Amino acid sequence: MTITGLGYLGVQTPDPSVWTSFGPEVLGLTVSGVGDDGSVYLRLDERSHRLSIHPGTESRLAYAGWEVACESDLDAMILRLDQAGVSWRPGTATECAERKVERFVRFEDPAGLPQEIFYGAAVSYAPISPGRPMSKGFVTGSQGLGHLVFMVPDARAANEFYANVLGFQLSDIVDTVIQTPGYFYHCNSRHHSLGVIEAPHHAGLHHLMLELDELNDVGTAYDIVRKREHPMSMTLGRHSTDEMVSFYFVTPAGFEIEYGWGGRQVNDETWHVVRAEQGELWGHELVGTGLPPTVRLVSTPVAAQ
Ligand SMILES: [Fe+2]
Repeated sequence: MTITGLGYLGVQTPDPSVWTSFGPEVLGLTVSGVGDDGSVYLRLDERSHRLSIHPGTESRLAYAGWEVACESDLDAMILRLDQAGVSWRPGTATECAERKVERFVRFEDPAGLPQEIFYGAAVSYAPISPGRPMSKGFVTGSQGLGHLVFMVPDARAANEFYANVLGFQLSDIVDTVIQTPGYFYHCNSRHHSLGVIEAPHHAGLHHLMLELDELNDVGTAYDIVRKREHPMSMTLGRHSTDEMVSFYFVTPAGFEIEYGWGGRQVNDETWHVVRAEQGELWGHELVGTGLPPTVRLVSTPVAAQ
């Protein structure tokens, strides 16, 4: 009766149409459809789509979709929301059809970030046709879509919500390069499906991590990102905790992609939480200009004394 993984991600941005080329040609995704409103739906495995890019006046997180196994598990999660006093609403029939799931509920985390819990995703049997050479595919299956990292104004409130209400298991705590601790959680064998990093007065989606089954596919994307001059935010490197070899760059929808290989898996029977004094084994030099546009100011910063 717990969340089993990250199922899907929806973002909004002024020009989704660029994703019909960016998704396949840079990320190696497959366009599974374009909606009447211009929304672009992208596929990377057997699911009909896992990434939805919707039109909107600004770039921001539209929803994060967390998966449970079945309807009774969804009802059990609703009970937990009710017991914690979290308001939620059911997804409409139109919204369920758009996400291609049987049923979901929608609510906000303590930072106001829109979250959804669903069951019953549609599976496609159409062939996958990435728009660039791919030697292998993405690591998904029981590990879900990948991981999300949110910037939140209050990491303690986020921890209370994600660990104690939604039931995520803490993997470890990391002293990050931006001097505030990050909390990383698992809900399947992937080292983390969710990370929260405190950024005073800010809230939003920092990045989506996509894991490749072959290191060369990360290298191919690295060359393409450099050649096309997409803004890189972290150079190639390896994280200390999940051991992912990855690099980060900013997408046309304002959030970052961590594109990686070699992520560690956890076993709850033997796992111990640790606090890592550094997040990187090597590389991952910050080269960007700061927080991605999807991380928005949520209150006026207190003036420096
Ligand atoms: Fe990450």
